Amino acid sequence: MPTIYFFRCLLLLVVISLVGCSIAEKVNSSGGIVWSTARDEAELVEDSGVVIGEQDQIDGGFSSLDGMLHWAIGHSDPATLKEAAKDAEKMSLDELQKRQLELKELVEKLKMPSDAKLMQIAIDDLKNSSLSLEDRHRALQELLILVEPIDNANDLSKSGGLRVVAGELNHDDTEVRKLAAWVLGKASQNNPIVQEQVLELGALTPLIKMVNSSSAEEAVKALFAVSALIRNNIAGQDMFYAAHGYIMLQDVMSNGSLDIKLRRKAVFLVGDLAESQLQNTEKDELPIFKDRFFLKSVVDLIVVLDLDLQEKALTAIQTLLQLKSIEPRILKEFCGLEEALERMKLQLEESMADEYKRDYAADVESIRGEVEVIFRQKLGLL
Ligand SMILES: *[C@@H]1O[C@H](CO)[C@@H](O)[C@H](O)[C@H]1NC(C)=O
Ligand SMILES: *[C@@H]1O[C@H](CO)[C@@H](O)[C@H](O)[C@H]1NC(C)=O
Ligand SMILES: *[C@@H]1O[C@H](CO)[C@@H](O)[C@H](O)[C@H]1NC(C)=O
Ligand SMILES: *[C@@H]1O[C@H](CO)[C@@H](O)[C@H](O)[C@H]1NC(C)=O
Repeated sequence: MPTIYFFRCLLLLVVISLVGCSIAEKVNSSGGIVWSTARDEAELVEDSGVVIGEQDQIDGGFSSLDGMLHWAIGHSDPATLKEAAKDAEKMSLDELQKRQLELKELVEKLKMPSDAKLMQIAIDDLKNSSLSLEDRHRALQELLILVEPIDNANDLSKSGGLRVVAGELNHDDTEVRKLAAWVLGKASQNNPIVQEQVLELGALTPLIKMVNSSSAEEAVKALFAVSALIRNNIAGQDMFYAAHGYIMLQDVMSNGSLDIKLRRKAVFLVGDLAESQLQNTEKDELPIFKDRFFLKSVVDLIVVLDLDLQEKALTAIQTLLQLKSIEPRILKEFCGLEEALERMKLQLEESMADEYKRDYAADVESIRGEVEVIFRQKLGLL
């Protein structure tokens, strides 16, 4: 079964054998020495992180790809090439022709399939119900790489591949579900066309449910996908509210035993949704921004000892405070924002005494100060 890794390895070999080709030609045509090109190509190969040993056996043919690789690389060194030129003179015409033929065949065999073709292979694999779990994981991992360029994501959407990936969200295997969510999230990121299609496929609701998964990794990727689907997408946000996605957010934010990455992602999404509300002034403000329990679960996060989480929570509150429907008195009396800000200040002072946290804590403190000022203005205290 072809895999993208396999093709990338082949591509590497093509580059290497081209180095060999150009050298072979140069050796034959002139016996003179114009090395720079071959040298550059060899460096390119080495830059790709492949460790290549110097080896210099000319035996008139290559018994293996490995042999060819060593030959090509060994001969990109000017000093060695000079030697090779001498050796090549000693080689019979037959031997040289044989080598050229081998290189040509190799290049033919290794024609790189297009990304579209690779995606189709992966999708066809996923459609195969008798595919092993391992191969299913691999097909999804390949798609994960392939959907990164926006054109590929659009192609996958046009070819119906996204429907197949969305179907994998119902798979029994947690790793399959995680990878499928990840692919959908990656493809949807900053891509309104894909967002719309994945939303139409009805993937949002299962993804919201998946955030409840007992596997932290699966939950994190599901929430990543939910965020990617509804970011800057009003229709998606409406579907999110209709599917009670905010309850999921509230559950995640208020559950201290959950993975910290998940909680950071949840509060970041709250800030994002508030920002979107702020920018779409013609849209009625949503009831969740008035929901005191929801707001309290955000406020409570600013005193959880994790600077990243605290920063995200503060930023969300800063945005929430700018909404018309926010009632500062609820934030004060029910959510305890004033005390929380005060407690946070002390925590940050402690963190600033730690040289590793000092700079970050100072940044967060500056946001905290701003939030305090805005809050006091809202309360009419300033
Ligand atoms: C080397 O070059 C000569 C003349 O350009 C050509 O006739 C010969 O076939 C070449 N040899 C190989 C092995 O390609
Ligand atoms: C489906 O997968 C199985 C197991 O890998 C394989 O033997 C079979 O050829 C595949 N079927 C198709 C139609 O590709
Ligand atoms: C997540 O699990 C909790 C507790 O098991 C449950 O109350 C809640 O409804 C679930 N949420 C979703 C969206 O499935
Ligand atoms: C909090 O998360 C843990 C771990 O996933 C879960 O077992 C527990 O039911 C959750 N608590 C609530 C109140 O949802």
